[in-house]
Amino acid sequence: MLVSGLGAVRNVVFWVLCLGVALVSWRFLVAGVDLTMPTVAYHASLRPIAFYAHVGLAPIALALVPFQLWRGLRDRHRPVHRLLGRLYAAAVLLSGLGGLWLALTTTSGPVASSGFALLALLWLATTAIGIQSAMSGDLARHRVWMIRSIALTLAAVTLRIYLPLSMLTGMDFDTAYAAIAWVCWVPNLLVAEYLVARRPSLSAAQ
Ligand code: HEM
Repeated sequence: MLVSGLGAVRNVVFWVLCLGVALVSWRFLVAGVDLTMPTVAYHASLRPIAFYAHVGLAPIALALVPFQLWRGLRDRHRPVHRLLGRLYAAAVLLSGLGGLWLALTTTSGPVASSGFALLALLWLATTAIGIQSAMSGDLARHRVWMIRSIALTLAAVTLRIYLPLSMLTGMDFDTAYAAIAWVCWVPNLLVAEYLVARRPSLSAAQ
């Protein structure tokens, strides 16, 4: 009883975080980039295509995560899962290429730049392998690579948890930001590897 109660709370928190961060990311649609994202507004004027592809489409990938993990939807409505999967892949492809360009041109220094760039490359690669596996009918391999892709998508959530926490500790912003460009995704990927290794049906598919 207690365990299933905790599971339900965990699910609600997960949905709220994914949908909440996605919705808040679209704040620039309401009040513009200069007002709502002042620290990255220079990207919008220097490289608008990369910037808007990223901040406009990455939230779609994040918002789709809880739907794609929802077993009831996956099992009972396969065509919906496939359609949302294609939408997820397209959002990752375009926003990932945009994110890669933002990473390579950020003024936040080489540590942040390399952390975000590697995240973008791994995001694109894991998603491509996951989708290719589904298209070739290897569903076990598809699951493994989509767990990795989703762990990287969730970097958007962990980053937005760690940033305010780092401010609470009084850490210098530039140092914290550079560290968080790595810390927002490396532990996520380790958790994904743990989840894969813990389930024999998944680890056999690697
Ligand atoms: C997983 C791969 C991702 C990479 C490599 C990436 C990379 C970046 C980079 C480099 C910037 C500019 C930061 C700067 O120059 O200081 C940025 C900003 C931004 N990204 Fe991503 N990002 C990723 C995922 C996401 C996701 C899934 C979302 C969805 C919510 C997202 C939403 C945003 C938003 C809204 C901004 C504007 C700044 C902000 O509000 O914090 N990103 N991203």
